[in-house]
Amino acid sequence: MDSKLTGRDLLTTEDLSLDELREIMLAAHKAKEGQRPLFLPHMNGRVALCFFERSTRTHQSFLTAAQECNCNVIGFSSTEGTSVGKGESLADTIATLAAYDTDLLVIRHPDVGSAKIAADICKFPVINAGDGNNQHPTQALLDILCMLEYFGGFSVMPRGSNRSYELNFEVLQGKTVAICGDLKNGRTLHSGIPLYRLLGMNLILCAPEELQIPTPDAIETCTTNELEYALEAADILYMTRFQWERPGMEELQHLKGRYILRRQTVERINPTVAIMHPLPRIAGEHCEIYPDVDDLKNALYFRLQTPCGMWTRIALLRLLMR
Ligand code: CP
Repeated sequence: MDSKLTGRDLLTTEDLSLDELREIMLAAHKAKEGQRPLFLPHMNGRVALCFFERSTRTHQSFLTAAQECNCNVIGFSSTEGTSVGKGESLADTIATLAAYDTDLLVIRHPDVGSAKIAADICKFPVINAGDGNNQHPTQALLDILCMLEYFGGFSVMPRGSNRSYELNFEVLQGKTVAICGDLKNGRTLHSGIPLYRLLGMNLILCAPEELQIPTPDAIETCTTNELEYALEAADILYMTRFQWERPGMEELQHLKGRYILRRQTVERINPTVAIMHPLPRIAGEHCEIYPDVDDLKNALYFRLQTPCGMWTRIALLRLLMR
């Protein structure tokens, strides 16, 4: 079960090929279909989870994935309780976690480039679980898995007692994904756009002028600041939160509540659109997706997108770890 991905870091989606994406998606789909026990003879490694920045989904799904793969887990879910508060450098913390016969390290950090620093120190694979507003490749991969699962991208080929799965990327080709919200700070979409480009998808970038990003190369793109326009034209509406904790955001408080998706708006404008959100969403009156949307069968963020995080991370541990 050798893979070209074995021993590699995952710091960005920019350098993933279509074949590599296919391999990750098929492994994740197999994990979903209950083929996880097949991985166990190859595993039993040690995974370090180093979360210098808060997380619910990414931390918990990596933890669950490591447990599913029979791995031993070390690390921390916040810097509280570590020596970071005493002035320890990122490099020293990573070198310490690398010293315990570790096989793979997952890092989330508020600074752009932190995952690269970790990868330069570690002699084993490093996965970037979010570095500042730069990249969040595992989120982008789980988003693609969610889209493939929802639009019927996988089929099963029964062969004797074994099942084999086939993947048809064409279910996403030509589909339009509208990304709405804080595009400047949205590391999930910075990782997502190269994959949308790879798959021949179209893009709508919906943001206030202050948080818009330059039109990316080689992907059919239109820009808007109107949620209703983006919603109408989209096959997939990908809502994101305004990241108030990022530098420069304190001057943009007037944008609070700029985009709020409500059930009646979805039902009126585009009732079949697939609704995604990397989460967390902001609670209360300024939430990007009003809770009455959650029950719609095309609201995927809890029902499908979140478990895709676990399946994708199981696949990545299995493929990257030696
Ligand atoms: N989507 C995501 O990265 O969520 P967390 O910040 O909770 O990990």
